[in-house]
Amino acid sequence: MRRKDMNVTDKRQLANNIQNLEDDTMMYNNIDFDTYFKNYPDEKGYFGKYGGSYIPPELQTAMNEISEAYQTICKSRKFISELRRIRKEFQGRPTPISHLARLSDKIGTGVQLYVKREDLNHTGAHKLNHCMGEVLLAKYMGKKKVIAETGAGQHGVALATAAAYFGLECDIYMGAVDIKKQAPNVARMKILGARVIEVTDGLQTLKEAVDAAFMAYCKEYKDAIYCIGSVVGPHPFPMMVRDFQSVVGIEAREQFLDMTGELPDAVVACVGGGSNAMGVFSGFLNDPVDIYGVEPLGRGTALGDHAASLTYGEEGVMHGFNSIMLKDQKGEPAPVYSVASGLDYPSSGPEHAFLHDLGRVKYDVVTDDETIDAFFELSRMEGIIPAIESSHAVAYGMKLAKQMGKGSILINLSGRGDKDMDYIIEKCGIK
Ligand SMILES: Cc1ncc(COP(=O)(O)O)c(C=O)c1O
Repeated sequence: MRRKDMNVTDKRQLANNIQNLEDDTMMYNNIDFDTYFKNYPDEKGYFGKYGGSYIPPELQTAMNEISEAYQTICKSRKFISELRRIRKEFQGRPTPISHLARLSDKIGTGVQLYVKREDLNHTGAHKLNHCMGEVLLAKYMGKKKVIAETGAGQHGVALATAAAYFGLECDIYMGAVDIKKQAPNVARMKILGARVIEVTDGLQTLKEAVDAAFMAYCKEYKDAIYCIGSVVGPHPFPMMVRDFQSVVGIEAREQFLDMTGELPDAVVACVGGGSNAMGVFSGFLNDPVDIYGVEPLGRGTALGDHAASLTYGEEGVMHGFNSIMLKDQKGEPAPVYSVASGLDYPSSGPEHAFLHDLGRVKYDVVTDDETIDAFFELSRMEGIIPAIESSHAVAYGMKLAKQMGKGSILINLSGRGDKDMDYIIEKCGIK
């Protein structure tokens, strides 16, 4: 029942429930989640032992400038109100939560599934939430250009959009394999005025695109900012991207309470680098809610057949940050695979590694086949075509609903699947 449809007694009961929730504090291994965001990361960008900044000294100077500028503007009333206005008038926020009534009925255990509709955010995914913030910061710092990597093309499209909005140049590095797989997004970036630079090293996917974007940034840091596409990279990016994405969790918590009078029993999101997941999780870390991050198991558990870094990886440094990563026998980042270009990365953000070790978030996996089934199931039962990345979260939410027996699950639907349709039809035909 929505708040507006409630009588006075219902409203009082709801207010009581909410007050009790606000008074509750979640403690995990002595970490108090009531004060978590004030304490993590620390000044050097560490979440426990994860995070930090492992980059050459000249780049460190550039990162320090970004960090200082962010610390100043994130407290500035002008910056906050400009970002709020953009979120409302340009991005179309808040995005709604939809109840998946038919899919819940079909599963039949009584568990109710809901999705937070980041597919309805302008450009069709959550990525624009941090891109508008990052480019606003670049503009404030007087930069002329933004540089980034992209896997699925969603971060590239979002950054190209933000660059067009603010009038900055935009260079996007993308692996040759992903360029072929995500052709509609490549066309969108070009139409938006960005330069798409093909990366043909190694596996020609996301990791190599990050390598190439970092190299370009090393040459261009005086005039450009590297707008990292997830909660990865050196400090301050994991913190900054999380902060920009936290709008998802803030909205979702309020909307879910408004729709149902309760919090969800579980929150689920897919994890590549981990930005959509950190966005939605941040709204519920201090609540009595089970939180699940879903990684891609791809074709199976053999190294090279998946990209489930938190589930199967170990501590290591890559791309300027310490986290949990998949390593080959030489200790280098291992080759990874996923049907979803946006999840095809051998590590995840340092905050995820921290939450993993604390046990506050449970990380688990789904296969390509389960994901593709979920892609068709959500499309046909609910009229929502999900991104193949987000389909991982949907697949896991459906499995969880079968196990739980009762309660509610909120799934972060990080993006829409238009970009994946040609690939899915070529791979599977129309089922
Ligand atoms: C729709 C969508 N969801 C999720 C992801 C994974 O990124 P992250 O883990 O940073 O949310 C991507 C990456 O491209 C994406 O396009």
